[in-house]
Order: sequence, then C-alpha cells, then structure tokens
Amino acid sequence: MKILVTGGSGYIGSHTCVELIDQGYEPIIVDNLCNSKEVVTDRIKEISGKRPKFYLGDIRNQTILEKIFNENEIDSVIHFAGLKAVGESVTKPLEYYDNNIYGSLVLLKAMKKANVKKIIFSSSATVYGTQPIIPYVETMQTGEPTQPYGRSKLFIEKILQDLFKAEKNWSITLLRYFNPVGAHSSGLIGEDPQGIPNNLMPYITQVAIGKRPSLAVFGNDYNTPDGTCVRDYIHVMDLAKGHVAALNNNNANNIQIFNLGSGKGTSVLEVISAFETVFGKKLPWHFAPRREGDLPAYWANADKAKQIMGWQTKLQLEDMVKDSWNWQRNNPQGFV
Ligand code: NAD
Ligand code: WQD
Repeated sequence: MKILVTGGSGYIGSHTCVELIDQGYEPIIVDNLCNSKEVVTDRIKEISGKRPKFYLGDIRNQTILEKIFNENEIDSVIHFAGLKAVGESVTKPLEYYDNNIYGSLVLLKAMKKANVKKIIFSSSATVYGTQPIIPYVETMQTGEPTQPYGRSKLFIEKILQDLFKAEKNWSITLLRYFNPVGAHSSGLIGEDPQGIPNNLMPYITQVAIGKRPSLAVFGNDYNTPDGTCVRDYIHVMDLAKGHVAALNNNNANNIQIFNLGSGKGTSVLEVISAFETVFGKKLPWHFAPRREGDLPAYWANADKAKQIMGWQTKLQLEDMVKDSWNWQRNNPQGFV
C-alpha cells in the first residue's frame, strides 16, 4: 500500500519511512529539502533494503502534488512537511504561516481532487498552551500557543476539524507529539539540525562531539523537583511506530486525536545525567537564565493511544541518549 509522506526526508519522516517499509507499506516522499538532504533515502535503503520513491517538490505547488497523485495509487498521506523552529517563527511569521498553513491547504485540496481522504497530521503538544493540570489529555481544551509555529499547528488542527465537519468521509488523525529525541539504532539516520540546535538533545550531542563548548541549561529555579524544566521525551522510533499504528487504526469516517508521549516527565538535569552515563564522562554544562516561553513542566497522558491503537512507548531514556549519541558519533557533520 502506497503512503505519501510529506517531509519524509526530515528527522521524524525518515524514521517513519523505515518503519513503514518494515511493516510492508510503500512510502513515497515529497520534500523540498529546505531542512533535509536527499542522501537520507540512501540511508533508508541501507537500513530497510528499499529506497522510497522521492519527489523533490514543495507541498505548496499544486502541480507537483497532482502529478504525484496521478502517477501513484496513494492510499493515505502522512503529513510531516513544515517549518518547526519555534524561535524562528517569531521573527518569520509569514514564512511559517505560508509554509505550514497554506502548504497544508494545498495538500488537502490535492488530496480531495485525487479522492485520497486519509491523513495523519504531525501536530504538537504546543497546541495545549498552558494548562492548569498535568498530564495533558486529549479531552482538554486546546490553549493559546504564544508563537506563530504553535499557532500554525493549532490552526491546521482546526482546519482539519472543520473539513471533517463538512465532509464526513475523511479519515483524519491528529498526532500530538511531545519531545521527540533519539535516532535509529543503526546510527545511519538521525536529527541533523542546521546551525545552532534549538533543542536539548542535539545540543547535548554537539557539545559531546566537541562542536560546541558547553550546554546552557535554561533556568534552575523552576518549581520542579530539581529546578529545571520537565518534559516528556519520546524515542523517534516509538514515534515512528505511532504513525504506523495510526495507519492501521480503523478510523474511517472519523477524526481522532492522540497524544504521542511516554507519559513520564524527565528534567533537563536527568537527561544530562543519563547522557553522561552513556558518554562515560562529564558533559560541560552551566546554568543560564530561563529561556523565554518555556513552560516549567508538562508530559502526556498517552492512555488513549494505548486503548484505541494498542500503541505505547517501549524505549527508555537510556535508549534515547544512547541512540542520539551513536548517530552523532557516526555522523559528526550530520548528513554530508
Ligand atoms: P524536519 O525539519 O526534520 O522535517 C520536515 C521536513 O519537511 C524537512 O525534510 C523539510 O525539508 C520538509 N519541508 C518543509 N517545508 C516543506 C514544504 N513546503 N514542502 C515540502 N517539504 C517541506 O522536522 P521533524 O522534526 O521531522 O518534524 C516533522 C513534523 O513534525 C513537522 O511538521 C513538525 O512541526 C512536527 N513536530 C516536530 C516535533 C519535533 O520536536 N521534532 C515536535 C512536534 C511536532
Ligand atoms: C527541552 C528542555 C529547555 C536547549 C520544543 C517545541 C515544541 C516541540 C518540541 C515542535 C527545555 C531545555 C533546551 C538548551 C536547555 N516541537 N534546554 N538548553 O522547548 O520542550 O519543545 O520542541 O512541535 O513545540 O517548543 O524542547 O528540546 O527545546 O527543550 O536547557 O540548549 O531543555 O529549556 O526545558 P521544548 P527543547
């Protein structure tokens, strides 16, 4: 069965392609390579034995999408393509709204035209905004994300909900990821941020490899057990399996929302400590002021995904740091 994977050469998309192939699906990638490299498809082949068909193209280009739908009998779409840097979205709101929202609209229109009505969308825990209660559960009202990136995810969720209200023959799954980290255990694919990493794990591995001198831990006076922020880290291979579970889930004529997280909160200092155990030495790090916009603590209630899709995380923090480090060590310059 052919699955169109938008943004399939990116971090989560590439791991999902491996899992799709492993489960007998045929992923077809469309990616404009604004944040990834085509060599990823070679690596996917090295891992899984099959190279996904690759279309170089932008999802805002209707002609390309129509060509893809005409040339391939696509069953479903997994929609990863988008811009994802929270801080950058504050300085480039128009680019983020254009890419993420307009891109999703063009994709949905092309799907409708091709009569492909099953979509799995990469949403984010950011749509919860600030909630009075932790863990976050899907029945909570969404909040008010404070930046264009988060708003773009919330708007796309609303667009998909409105689409379903109007046309009940769609099958729509909104997956709200918590904090994806880790890499495929082969060390052949992983997260390859351009420039200075925004996220904790790639920053840690770049310090470990000697690319950056020291990790700044943002804030030590939060109301958390050790004063640093608490998040729900999820191994990218567990996340990839969550997409296949969503594909296998009987969701015809329905819209469903799932949190994809481990259900467990981990502090920044706990991540560093787990990393140091695998690394075998101390990591240079220092406390720095709080980063604007960071929430003190949140994690997922992931019971719904377990009950309905039979999915739950299997990999632990130890696997996440080990695989992140293995990827970085084997690819000091990322994909070259
Ligand atoms: P990524 O940047 O590694 O992958 C996104 C891919 O989409 C890249 O390969 C990029 O080149 C491509 N792309 C971007 N705009 C495009 C366009 N207009 N047309 C075609 N291709 C385009 O990011 P990722 O971490 O793999 O994230 C995938 C999705 O999951 C994104 O939508 C992101 O917002 C969402 N998400 C990510 C996280 C995270 O922490 N990584 C958390 C929650 C949600
Ligand atoms: C994790 C913790 C930082 C870097 C972001 C997006 C979210 C989702 C996932 C897309 C925080 C601390 C970080 C550093 C640090 N993405 N930190 N030093 O902010 O929880 O979530 O990615 O949807 O929307 O906001 O992830 O990895 O940036 O931070 O101390 O150099 O690590 O303060 O507590 P975050 P992160």
